[in-house]
Amino acid sequence: MAVGIFDSGLGGLTVLNAAQKRLPEVDFLYLGDNAHAPYGVRDADDVYGLTVKAVQRLWDGGCDLVILACNTASAAALRRMQEGGLPKGKRVLGVFVPLIEALTERRWGDNSPPREVAVKHVALFATPATVASRAFQRELAFRAIGVDVEAQACGGLVDAIEEGDMILAEALVRSHVDALRRKMPDPQAAILGCTHYPLMEQVFQDALGPDVQVFSQGDLVAESLADYLVRHPDMQGGGQSGFLTTGDPRKVSDQATQFLRRQITFCAA
Ligand code: DGL
Repeated sequence: MAVGIFDSGLGGLTVLNAAQKRLPEVDFLYLGDNAHAPYGVRDADDVYGLTVKAVQRLWDGGCDLVILACNTASAAALRRMQEGGLPKGKRVLGVFVPLIEALTERRWGDNSPPREVAVKHVALFATPATVASRAFQRELAFRAIGVDVEAQACGGLVDAIEEGDMILAEALVRSHVDALRRKMPDPQAAILGCTHYPLMEQVFQDALGPDVQVFSQGDLVAESLADYLVRHPDMQGGGQSGFLTTGDPRKVSDQATQFLRRQITFCAA
């Protein structure tokens, strides 16, 4: 029995890690499409096609429920896949909604009309494709009014993290935070709208300063998944847990082991 977790590469491991801590009894089958990462510089149709293929691989591996632990894939593909109709008994969930519910202080499934919330100035850090999609602002507008969102497309950051070049990644975080601050000098909250970015969370927090509340998705998505599995205990699927990659399994295993500080062994997808 395994729940599928998908990302373009290593970023979804931040979600997997939180989900494993929150749900130690649940098995997970992870798929990183490292051969095609980063997704954030691709157009929406391209991301959609790659996401459909990856989700199919996880369904073929026995998963019934797949989490798109990738904002770029969630923005480009989630609604389109759901509206296009999923095979019987299969479900796909994304990572935006738990984050926005936390930001707007809503509980799961609270579909009441949009209302004023405490936070008024929000900085969104995400990939160029996620920023271009405006999916975050759309989901937010369903739930809150009067929130000013300034988005910063963090070009180059996913590549640097995928390559394990943390010195470059740190420099890029600082320059993207500077660029954001030129547009919004005093954000109250910052959203790490890419699952790779929690690997740099401390750098974001240091660059933003202690007065800015930084939201990242791992724990929020894990909590929401726990809630979902209580309501849908039959969605844990069949199949075996493990780690799959479309990239070079040895290289990806080394990087994943470094990030999670425990041995992770990927196999070819
Ligand atoms: N982790 C993906 C996300 O959350 C990274 C996208 C990419 O590959 O650029 O958007």
